Amino acid sequence: MSYNLLKGKRGIIFGALNESSIAWKVAERAAAEGAEIVLTNTAVAMRMGEIERLAEACNAPVIAADATNIEELEALIDKSLEHFGGKIDFVLHSVGMSPNVRKSIPYQQLNYTFFDKTLDISALSFHKIMQVLYNKQAMNEWGSIVALSYLAAQRTFVGYGDMADAKALLESVARSFGAIFGKEYKVRVNTISQSPTPTTAGMGVAGMSEMLNFAEAMSPLGNATAEECADYCITLFSDLTRKVTMQNLYHDGGFSSIGLSEEAFNLLSK
Ligand SMILES: NC(=O)c1ccc[n+]([C@@H]2O[C@H](COP(=O)([O-])OP(=O)(O)OC[C@H]3O[C@@H](n4cnc5c(N)ncnc54)[C@H](O)[C@@H]3O)[C@@H](O)[C@H]2O)c1
Repeated sequence: MSYNLLKGKRGIIFGALNESSIAWKVAERAAAEGAEIVLTNTAVAMRMGEIERLAEACNAPVIAADATNIEELEALIDKSLEHFGGKIDFVLHSVGMSPNVRKSIPYQQLNYTFFDKTLDISALSFHKIMQVLYNKQAMNEWGSIVALSYLAAQRTFVGYGDMADAKALLESVARSFGAIFGKEYKVRVNTISQSPTPTTAGMGVAGMSEMLNFAEAMSPLGNATAEECADYCITLFSDLTRKVTMQNLYHDGGFSSIGLSEEAFNLLSK
């Protein structure tokens, strides 16, 4: 069902790799709600993934940019402004990667070169994107910027490693930049803390299948799917949430407020 919530709005969506990506679902939903979008990912991901298919379905250009590279981000924003013929209303940061997690390096033995990469790709990239948008005065008033986070920013989860630190930093960057962007340009900045979701990045975390089952058993409403996350993103890009900013918003079926559910208790007592 479409409500035309984003009619006349223009946005950039980072991180659609394949059909299971959360960003893929957000792009489809944003287009269905009447938005004009630009898709972006790294050149390598664009070669590996299927983003051209999404671009065709959403009638959107794809512009390559490494979200850790300021020059590439500047070129992306310039090209997007030119394509739209005006400023930007919303941005989705759906970017994350940890070489330590990928290589199953335990947290107490972190490789620090990899750790730098984790923080740069998964958290500092959010600052870099916002710095470029800010310096170019590229956002429209009452625009909305959203990044995707996970509860490991607040609580430890086995296997999540240094991504937990990256998510804590990501949420902090949203608050710090949100204060500046709100005051000066009336732009809001939030993070959505999403349920575990079976995507390429998600399934790269050791024990993800068990985590999905555990979270499903713990959450009163069940795990939030990628499609449901997309729905929530749309509300945050729409004019219906104009005074929501600097928040980390849980979208997890209630998982973050549960101590122990009956279903999880039954799983453990088997
Ligand atoms: N899947 C989950 O369980 C889950 C839960 C909560 C939050 N999240 C977050 O959602 C976001 C999207 O992940 P996803 O689960 O859809 O997986 P995904 O693998 O589909 O998306 C991750 C994306 O990050 C992109 N990326 C990596 N390095 C990049 C760089 N240097 N520059 C630009 N893009 C880069 C990848 O190409 C990919 O498109 C991530 O921030 C992830 O941490 C995921």
